[in-house]
Amino acid sequence: MSRPDKSIHGQWSSRWAFILAATGSAVGLGNIWKFPYITGENGGGAFVLVYLLCIVCIGIPVMMAEIMIGRRGRQNPVNSLKSIAKEEGAGQFWRYLGWSGVAAGFIILSYYSVIAGQAIAYIFRTISGTFDGVTADGAANIYKSLTSDPERLLAWHTVFIVLTMVVVARGVRGGLEKLVRFIMPALFAILILLVGFAANTGEHFTHAIDFLFKADFSKLTGDAVLTAMGHAFFTLSLGMGAIMVYGSYLPKNTSIMKVTFAIAAADTAIALLAGLAIFPLVFANDLSIGSGPGLIFETLPIAFGHMAGGALFGSLFFLLLVFAAWSSAISLIEPAVAWLVENKNVSRRRACVYTGFAAWSLGLLTVISFNIGQHWLLFGKTMFELLDYLTANLMLPLGGLLIAIFAGWVMPRSSSQQEFAIKKPIFYYIWLILIRFITPAAVIIVFLNALGLFN
Ligand code: PHE
Repeated sequence: MSRPDKSIHGQWSSRWAFILAATGSAVGLGNIWKFPYITGENGGGAFVLVYLLCIVCIGIPVMMAEIMIGRRGRQNPVNSLKSIAKEEGAGQFWRYLGWSGVAAGFIILSYYSVIAGQAIAYIFRTISGTFDGVTADGAANIYKSLTSDPERLLAWHTVFIVLTMVVVARGVRGGLEKLVRFIMPALFAILILLVGFAANTGEHFTHAIDFLFKADFSKLTGDAVLTAMGHAFFTLSLGMGAIMVYGSYLPKNTSIMKVTFAIAAADTAIALLAGLAIFPLVFANDLSIGSGPGLIFETLPIAFGHMAGGALFGSLFFLLLVFAAWSSAISLIEPAVAWLVENKNVSRRRACVYTGFAAWSLGLLTVISFNIGQHWLLFGKTMFELLDYLTANLMLPLGGLLIAIFAGWVMPRSSSQQEFAIKKPIFYYIWLILIRFITPAAVIIVFLNALGLFN
């Protein structure tokens, strides 16, 4: 198979279009819903520090590698890896890496959509004034009444999958660009407003800053380190081909390094702002920091219920969250759809129906793990927790490790250097050292550590 010069799906209109789409992929539920609750569950500061270190030493180099591979291959991840491997005389085994990415994206979408569905439900709850003057107990009960009803969760999950598949069916670009251009600044603005509100809680705000940024390593387990690393992959959409597929639409002369820094910075800033908005409320209302996936739904409504114009801001916030989740969901399923279209000669529309239906069906497991199936545990985890652990903590880091090996060792330096095309070779060498040695070693050490090998 030869490598096309341009993707058959077209190209981004500019560097900005790519940055917007990739930021749209990166910023989503991972930043606003997942980061705060896993930080709460894993003890705060030390966990945040490990997560930030993973962004710098693992996430950023892997993102550069993915963009570089995608742009060189110009096809869906499976074919890009296959054709580059062939060109460089490496084994056909590499296409399985593309495969595992397609599978990971699809499994993530199945539960991602159920949580995004909860956010849609919250747009309506907020705008109708449900949270006016709400207490902490009241907010927790409202969340419980939503999640304990499988039919309602299923309905919103269905709405979200359909919304996602409709955009994907129409082709990713164009609309996505316009959407992200609007939602990212709006999301920033509303998070800053929420942090401002949280700052009014005085000592609780200081407590939250201490909680987030003072590292107490005694609380850090091997599994927490693995979760932090897994989250670095999850939040930057790495290890499964989403960024690779977007990279395949990137015009030739764009600087891979600059775009990567811009995306990683925006993503990290949004997550930290979300933490600063949520934890002061947790402390001020004596909530449990380890309350899990319901954390944002149980805390933010308290803020909206007590601020002037809260119903309006609150519904706007959840609307933006849904849009952010939407632009991420599109990229979760794009590798699978691109693969079906390129390899199986399926029309884009049909590919969307198949993949959407499959992800929807798998999502039923997550729907029931909030209610009737909440006591069905495997390895001590609900089905939702299991799918999340399998993908975020295992499949994405493993995918990232293989991508690093592919970019650093399988592709010869002449190819990667040509693709980076940077004027100052020093940056290229820094990347090369990271991707060849530091990134793979870090991922392997974290895995071994989680297995308890260093205890
Ligand atoms: N990065 C997205 C988020 O933080 C989730 C995602 C993971 C999207 C993997 C694509 C691929 O919400």
